[in-house]
Parts: sequence; C-alpha cells; structure tokens
Amino acid sequence: MAVEYNKRTHRCASLRSADVGQTVTLAGWVNSYRDHGGMVFIDLRDHEGITQCKFNPQTDPKAHEIARALRNEDVIAIRGDVATRGDNINPKLPTGEVEVEIREVDLLAKSEPVPFEVSDHVEASEELRLKYRYLDMRRPKMQKILRLRHKLAKTIRDFFDEEGFVEIETPCLTKSTPEGARDYLVPSRVQPGNFFALPQSPQIFKQLFMIAGFDRYAQIVRCFRDEDLRGNRQPEFTQLDMEMAFVRRDEVMDVVDKCVSRIFRNVLEIDLKLPLPRMSYFEAMDRFGVDRPDTRFGLELQDITEIAKKTEFSIFQKAIEAGGIVKCIVVPGGESLTRKVTDGLAEEVKGIGGGGMPITKITAKDGGVACTTGVAKFVQPVVDELCKATGAKAGDAIVFMPGSYRDVCKYLHHLRTRLAEITCVIPENCWDILWVVDFPLVDWDEDEKRWNSMHHPFTAPMEEDVHLMDSDPGKVRSEAYDLVLNGEEMAGGSVRIHRREVQKKVFELLNISEEEAKLRFTHLMDALTYGAPPHGGIAFGLDRWVMKVAGVDSIREVIAYPKTQRAVCPLTDAPSLIDSKQLQELGIDLRPEVKAKLEDKP
Ligand code: AMO
Repeated sequence: MAVEYNKRTHRCASLRSADVGQTVTLAGWVNSYRDHGGMVFIDLRDHEGITQCKFNPQTDPKAHEIARALRNEDVIAIRGDVATRGDNINPKLPTGEVEVEIREVDLLAKSEPVPFEVSDHVEASEELRLKYRYLDMRRPKMQKILRLRHKLAKTIRDFFDEEGFVEIETPCLTKSTPEGARDYLVPSRVQPGNFFALPQSPQIFKQLFMIAGFDRYAQIVRCFRDEDLRGNRQPEFTQLDMEMAFVRRDEVMDVVDKCVSRIFRNVLEIDLKLPLPRMSYFEAMDRFGVDRPDTRFGLELQDITEIAKKTEFSIFQKAIEAGGIVKCIVVPGGESLTRKVTDGLAEEVKGIGGGGMPITKITAKDGGVACTTGVAKFVQPVVDELCKATGAKAGDAIVFMPGSYRDVCKYLHHLRTRLAEITCVIPENCWDILWVVDFPLVDWDEDEKRWNSMHHPFTAPMEEDVHLMDSDPGKVRSEAYDLVLNGEEMAGGSVRIHRREVQKKVFELLNISEEEAKLRFTHLMDALTYGAPPHGGIAFGLDRWVMKVAGVDSIREVIAYPKTQRAVCPLTDAPSLIDSKQLQELGIDLRPEVKAKLEDKP
C-alpha cells in the first residue's frame, strides 16, 4: 500500500517526545542523508522544519533499499513510528529528541543534483539564487520572510477594513500617472501606435474614488516605475495605497499612526508611543541634510558660517561670497579616524559631485585645545570659538563642508551616514520613526530651469502660502507628509488639490501646458468640475516595511520573484525578445541600431 501523502498526520517540525509510540505520516524533501553502514538516516524537511527518519534494514528491507538511493531534494512520503533518540538528542532541532522509524517510504519525485545547497548558509551568487528561485525559496530564511510578508499585509488589510476603508482594484493597463519615474509602456494591438502605461501608482484613480463618494479607500497594489534601482527600489513593487475624503492632514496622519502602531504590535511585539513625532522639512534639512533623517544617532549638521568668515581659508571664503554657507559635523572620538578612512570619504564626496572633505582633529594642548592635521592651519585661529559653538572637544574630529545650502546638505548627509557606520554609533534594535511635514510644494531644477513637484502635481499648497504662488513659488509649503523609519522613506502622501482652478495653477507653475494637461489629465480635470470633496491620502512601500521588520538590506530578499539591479528576471529571462509577427501585429518596427545590436549578440 502506498503512503498516503495526502493524509499527512504531522508537519516536519511537530513531533516531540510526547508523541513516542505514535504511527505518523510525513512528506517533504530530503534535506540530508547519512548511510551508517546498516542504518540510513534521512533528515526530512518541509516548510515548518526537519524530522530525522531512520531506515533499518531489519524493519523493512524494501524501505531501506529505497532510502539508500535517496539524494538531497528528492520528494518522499513516509509512514513510521515515533521513537526516542535516547542519548543522541540534537538540541538544535525542535524535533531533536525523536526520530521516526520507517515502515514505509514512497519516492514521489526524484531531484537532479541541485545547483546550490538548500540551506541558510548557501554561498550561491544572487543571480543563481534568482534563476532557481523555487529552490532558493525552500530555504528556511526565505520561507520565514515571505510568511512575514503575508502577516504584515494581513495586519494592514485587517486594520483598514476595521477602520471602514474599502478595497477596490484599479487598472494596470492605464495612462501615465506622474510619480517622478519613467513609465513602463504596453503597446496596444487593437489601437496600433497607442500605448498603455503601467501605473506608477493609482494616484488619480484613488482621487476619483473620493469624487465618486467612496469616502475611504485602501488597496494593496502593484506599482511600476522605470527608475535607477537601488537596494530599496524595484521596478515592480507593492504599496498600501489609501485615500480619505473630508479630511485635513491630521486625520490621515492619525489613521497611519494607528496602523503603524498595529504593525509594530502584531509583527514586532513593540508598543509605540503615539502620536508619532513630527519634524518640519526645514528642520530635517538643517539638522540632518536630508528630508528622511536617521534620528537614531547624533552627528548633526551645525552651521558655522559666521565663524568660517573669520578664517583665511579661501575655500570657505569663496563659498560664502557666492551666497553659500559652511557647515560641519563633529565626530566624537574622530581623532582616531585614519588617513586612509578620511581620504576614502573625501573621494566618496568627489564621487557624488563634491570637492572633497576638509577635516581637522582636535587635540589637548597646554591646558586648552589645538587643531591638528587637515585644514588645521586655517581653523586654528578660531579653534576656541569653534569648539564652544559646536561642542567639539579634544579627541574629536570636525568635518567641514562649504558650498550652497543644497550641496552642503547633500554631501554632509552622505558623510553623516558613512561616519555613523564607520564609528559604529548606530544603535541596534532601535526603531526611530517620525513624520516629516511642511515640505515645499516645488523644487527648482537648475539643469532644466523649471519647477518640479516635490511630491506629485496633485499635492495641495498650504492655504496660507497660496498667495506666494506667483511671486515666490519656492516659498510655498505643501500639505505633504512622509513617514521615515531609521532614515528611510516608508510612506509618503498629501492632502490633494480638490479645486480645478488651483490644479490648473499648479500645472502652470510646473510648466505643464494646457494642451499637455488636457492630454494627460483630462479625466481628473473633468472630475474636479463635478463636486470633488476635500481629500487626502498616503501610500506605504510594503516591500520596504517587510525589509525593515525582517531586518534585511536588500528589497530583493522580500519579493518572491524580484528583478535584478539590471531590471531583469533571471528565473523567466524577462524581458525577452518577441517574434517579428508579434511586432508586426503591434505595428512596431525596431530601430536599425537596436536590430544591429541584437544581431551582434550571440
Ligand atoms: P511615493 O512615490 O512617495 O508616493 O511612494 C510611496 C512609497 O512607495 C515606496 N516606493 C518604492 N518602493 C520600492 N520600489 C520603488 N521603486 C518605490 N518607489 C516608491 C516608498 C514610498 O514612500 N501616489 C503617492 C502616494 C500618495 O500621495 O498618496 C506615491 O506613490 O516607500
């Protein structure tokens, strides 16, 4: 009689000494095998854990014979009796006190030798792991992460359901919604020459839900953005997207506070103090140089322009004359930073467009302090004032950055993060979460000589700043808010423009012509004429939340089938060529240089 694999009595992590004597049926994969002369031992694995199975030639020679031929990743079903392992307990396994003495075994599927070991200690390259993702996902770590992802999504979905939000799906074949990235386009066969855009977010659709009277909407939704990929970005990612009608920003932020608190309680067993703290955009930039500050550690930026003016350091002088500033970071204990490290950091700054990293070290001298190394000779005359103003003391280093406000923020933010890593000041198991609010509505793009939205073009300007829209647009603050966790943007949203004339004005400011607006956003502009309630919302990056709670650094670890840094899927080999007939049907002809490149490829 075959083992009834469809009637498993237990999973592979369940058996304990209390089960000794029971006859059980298990099924799973061969995790490892050991042939001890007469006896064969198999570690049987399923998604829950491992159970040791013992094949004794005396009990059943046929089962023993099958066991001898088993290899890693073969799929088997077994029936046998739970027995104690006596003195051979394996304390590393929850099932380590018992084993199953096999009466019957069925080989359900044979496996080829696997390209890498199915174990959390695999040393395979990411490319190989992604190519054989189904093997990679057999590893306990991947199983754990993807189940955590499920738990997180369920926690969020349940929360919004309880709060009266409805989940409604929005289309994937749609029109461009600007979120600052390039669109993924899908050609239409029936409308040759026309293209759908995959949504960068459901932004406009959710606003239309509010105009349609749904009042509260929330959806776990896939978004697509063709942008430079980093450790926390994927071309295809998941948002928890939500929108509420008849609200100001506080109501949206309150609901999110409650949701975040639920996530922390359910998934991390941590109780957060509400309301979550808020910081203005300007404070974040001034103190941390970035709008997503990592507040787990100090190393804050300090403005020393007035002191810098008193030095004879031409680099400081030039920056100040050009209308810029000089800021610094005091690195406690930074005297011990080696030349190799500081030169390396200076090179990093150059790598992102800066001029280097002026630094000096503070040392005790004659009962006071003195500067050594780096730009010591320039700052020595002001060292007392500098130390008094910044709190620097003997043993510290001071890193300076002269330049425009924007550049100083950019380079010091980079250095702050790197210095924190190098000097190990980031506390472990710390969850620093805060809101950043009062963003500017627009940001000046010096290269393109135009204003860009800081969030997206549908974000409402603050009522009290609207009068500045013509005279001083850069000063207009918006009703936008971002949620930041340990220096990473976890969610972003805003109160929206609900009046057509304000939306028109913002489009004008963004240099979106009337024709362009009509072409791209007629559906929204029309809808705004039919009674749009005031509304606002937010979207969480679900993948980023999973990364945080799972404690992994790469977004690819939390997505079942992710794309690589080159935006390809090694498993399916997508994107791939399509045959000329399909191209023809779509009315598409590849450009000659693209064709030539393809023909060059083997
Ligand atoms: P935003 O563009 O800020 O806002 O996106 C919201 C959140 O989505 C996450 N995110 C990403 N995660 C992984 N890969 C990416 N490429 C990626 N891009 C963004 C981030 C981010 O905070 N429609 C607005 C929301 C709104 O205004 O309601 C929007 O999409 O965690």
